[in-house]
This record gives sequence, structure tokens and C-alpha cells, in this order.
Amino acid sequence: MVVLGIESTCDETSVAIVRNGNEVLSNVVTSQIKDHLPWNGVVPEIASRLHLKKIIHLTEEACKEAHCSINDIDLIAAANRPGLIGGLIVGSATGKAFAWAIDKPFIGINHMEAHLYSPHITNEIPFPYIGLLVSGGHTMIVLAQSHTTFSVIGTTIDDAVGEAFDKLAKHYAMGYPGGPSVEKLALTGDESTFDFPTSNLHKSDRKYDVSYSGIKTAAINFLEKYLKKETYTLNDIAASFQKRAFSVLKKKCISACIDYNINRIVVAGGVSANFYLRHLFSDIPDITTYFPDIKYATDNGAMIAGYAYHTFKENGPTPLTSGVSARVSGFKISLEKK
Ligand code: KG4
Ligand code: ZN
Repeated sequence: MVVLGIESTCDETSVAIVRNGNEVLSNVVTSQIKDHLPWNGVVPEIASRLHLKKIIHLTEEACKEAHCSINDIDLIAAANRPGLIGGLIVGSATGKAFAWAIDKPFIGINHMEAHLYSPHITNEIPFPYIGLLVSGGHTMIVLAQSHTTFSVIGTTIDDAVGEAFDKLAKHYAMGYPGGPSVEKLALTGDESTFDFPTSNLHKSDRKYDVSYSGIKTAAINFLEKYLKKETYTLNDIAASFQKRAFSVLKKKCISACIDYNINRIVVAGGVSANFYLRHLFSDIPDITTYFPDIKYATDNGAMIAGYAYHTFKENGPTPLTSGVSARVSGFKISLEKK
């Protein structure tokens, strides 16, 4: 089955064509980074206008690269939740229009579920496993039993980890986008310089939950001191922050592996592009950790098309009358009920 996947939930527009879940025939991505740079963050209205401007051309490119025509596609998939509402509308409406025009089914895809699928594109990963989803809007620990059967066992109770990186970077003018800028600065920083508070929650019903508001506030409040004395470098701040932000995730995932008697961890989402995080998870005794290929870590159409192949087999098409959702209310529940 050949699936065309559309991704437009945030600031990347991407169209991919994937056969049978993991044979990527094309994956065309354009980033809007330079368009949002003057604002140090994504401006939703600019984002949706740019998606609209690029999406048809990108679809043509994706077909050309895959050496096929739109009529060769068996299923059209588009991310329809969660994300910025304008971008979701553009991607979903385009997908539905193509599906209607070529008389093929359409499926709306949950962007976060597609992230969790992304490491499967290039790895054979047996189930069950503990999934760690880390992006700009979400941080979740998931128990996955199959491609479509999983439950969220832990979440952030406030900021997402990517969001914390982005806010730190914005505050200290470290660069945009925040995550990669912090990672780059941290390379030459001393991670033991600051003892930022850990985001470890201990209550038994919140055993796998994390919190990022404490570490974010501590790092941001430190700015005045830093500006006055400047005995430390931005690199030290970035390195200390990165270490704290990730070590708690490692701890929670190991604890979930022990409790569920599982020896596999799958890390996905934009933050999984971070090499410090990859290294941190690579040496856990008796546990194998899988990551997406770096080109499928941040937002891309291949993960939408690949995951659609599996969900379509399980759940069938989405009606063309369906809508989009900026947030997935009761995300926990909807995943558990799968
Ligand atoms: O999955 P993604 O591309 O978009 C969302 O679904 O949110 O993730 C974007 C997030 C941003 O917060 C960005 O700063 C972060 O991923 N990110 C990183 C790195 N690359 C992207 N964070 C840390 N280190 C990186 N190398
Ligand atoms: Zn994403």
C-alpha cells in the first residue's frame, strides 16, 4: 500500500510517500525557521500562510522524487491533531481534497502517535516497550504493546521538555530554535557548574510524571546574577540545564522498565534529535534504546504516512467531514482505549 503523508502541525511543512509502512519513497521537508526568527518563536498565522503557500508544490516534489503520480497513491494521510489550528486545517483540507479528487480513502493522524512510530521506520523493534515522547508541546512516557495499543503512564505536569529548552534559549538569547542552540552551546560548557532543581515527582500515582517549570524558572531567575557577574558562561548554563532536564527522563524510563519488566526503550519527538540525550540513553545496562533516524526525529511526513499504514489497517478511514483539534483532550484516555 502506497501512502501519501502530510505534516503541517507546527513550523515544518512536509509531504512524504511511503510504501507498506517503512519503505520511504520520498520525504520532502521545508522548515519555516528563518520566517519565525525575528520573533524568536513560531507565529501561528505566519505558519499557516506558509503551509498554504508550499503544500501543493511539496506534494508535486514528493511525487516526482518517488517517481509516481498522485493517482498511484492508495491512501492519503494528514496530521489532524494536536498542533497549531491553522496548520492543521491546511494539511487536513489538502489531504481530504486529494483523497476526494482521486477517489481514495483519507485518514487523520495523531501527530504524537506518529512520532512514536518514527523509530520503526528504520528499526525492527519488538513490542512491548517503554516509549519516551519528547517534543515542543508534549512530554510523555508510554507503555506500548503494539503499533496501535498503548497507554500513557507519565506526562509532564506543566511545560514540555522542548518548550523548556525553547524558553531558556529565548530568555538568554541563545538562538532560535531553542533546543539545537542549547545543545550546541552545551558542547563546550561545564555541566556541573549549576545545580538546577530536579523535576522528580515522587507520589505513587505520579511515579512517572515530570515537571519542568521549576528548572525553567530557576534558570530564568539566574539571568540577573549571570548578567551582573558573568563569571560563568552561557555554555555552562546550557550544559547544566541540559543535564538536569534529561537525567530525570532517564531515571523515570528505567523505573518504568523495572516495574513493567521490559528491557526496551523507544525515544521519539523533536527533542530526540539531541545527541547528549542519545548518548545518555545508550549505556543503560540490560536495556536497548531505539531512536528515530535523525531525519525522522523532528516533524516529517514519513512518520505520518508510515504510521497511517498501520492505523488504517486497524481502524479504517476518517470521514471527509471530520475536523481537526489543536489539543487532544483526554489524550491519556484516548490512547488507553485503543
Ligand atoms: O517534534 P517537533 O519537531 O515539533 C513538535 O511536535 O513540537 O519538536 C520540536 C521541539 C522544539 O522544542 C525544539 O527546540 C526541540 O524539539 N528540539 C531539540 C533539538 N532539536 C529540536 N531539543 C533539544 N535538542 C535538539 N537538538
Ligand atoms: Zn512533532
